[in-house]
Amino acid sequence: MKRIVIFGGTSAIAECAARLWVARGCSVFLVGRNAEKVEAICDDLRVRAGPSQKIGSAVADLNDHEKHAALVKSAEDELGGLDVALIAHGSLPNQTECEKSVAQTLAEINTNALSVLSLLTVMANYFEPRGNGAIVAISSVAGDRGRKSNYVYGAAKGLVTLFMQGLRNRLAAKGVVVVTIKPGFVDTPMTKDFEKKGFLWAKPETIAAGIVQAEERRSDVVYLPWFWRYIMLIIRHIPERIFKRLSL
Ligand SMILES: NC(=O)c1ccc[n+]([C@@H]2O[C@H](COP(=O)([O-])OP(=O)(O)OC[C@H]3O[C@@H](n4cnc5c(N)ncnc54)[C@H](OP(=O)(O)O)[C@@H]3O)[C@@H](O)[C@H]2O)c1
Repeated sequence: MKRIVIFGGTSAIAECAARLWVARGCSVFLVGRNAEKVEAICDDLRVRAGPSQKIGSAVADLNDHEKHAALVKSAEDELGGLDVALIAHGSLPNQTECEKSVAQTLAEINTNALSVLSLLTVMANYFEPRGNGAIVAISSVAGDRGRKSNYVYGAAKGLVTLFMQGLRNRLAAKGVVVVTIKPGFVDTPMTKDFEKKGFLWAKPETIAAGIVQAEERRSDVVYLPWFWRYIMLIIRHIPERIFKRLSL
């Protein structure tokens, strides 16, 4: 029975992943910044959990990096140890507003990258001496190439992806897996203002199932759904002199 801490536990994708893990007999500790939402999700998970499974939570703004180590300690104490960490929180910046405001750009980079790097470091230093564990974080296909429509978000996710690549290389010989999840478009509150039509849009349940499977398989980098690997392969290979003229 795995013990799993989820940062950004109120995210639609994370909530679906938590349900799948609970259905598999795991114990779960959720960290989110909205106390009401955290409690509602935990209540639902408790109904689904068996008597030996533990469901715990903490309320925190994950931009407060100073609290990260204490949050991991709380999760460890509550669950009696940790086997998996899922880092799922994030925000979708208003690109146009960011272009006008350095402060807003840096705040978005903080939420989508620096707070994630902090948690990755704390979790790596937790699992490394124990010689086991899995660190899973949700990056994005947006981090594979900068585009004018969302390069602040893309740059933050690109930083997370590259940091995780290095972390994976550091921890490979130590028995700790580092799993980078790269979803394409997902129908969640984050994308509420988008028109969601066509096969490129996935449900959070689909992405959550991919996350649970990627952790079980101890995968390295997983595009979700799978076809994004090939879409991004093409996008990454468009020469820059052509790419810079495209409206993407
Ligand atoms: N939806 C997509 O198309 C898509 C595509 C690729 C990658 N992703 C990534 O998938 C992950 C999950 O997003 P989602 O699609 O499930 O969207 P979501 O339901 O809107 O979840 C985002 C979550 O991040 C939390 N959050 C934001 N800032 C936080 C902070 N400072 N401290 C604590 N929690 C914070 C939000 O908390 P509140 O509930 O309190 O607001 C919310 O629970 C994100 O990393 C996102 O970038 C999403």
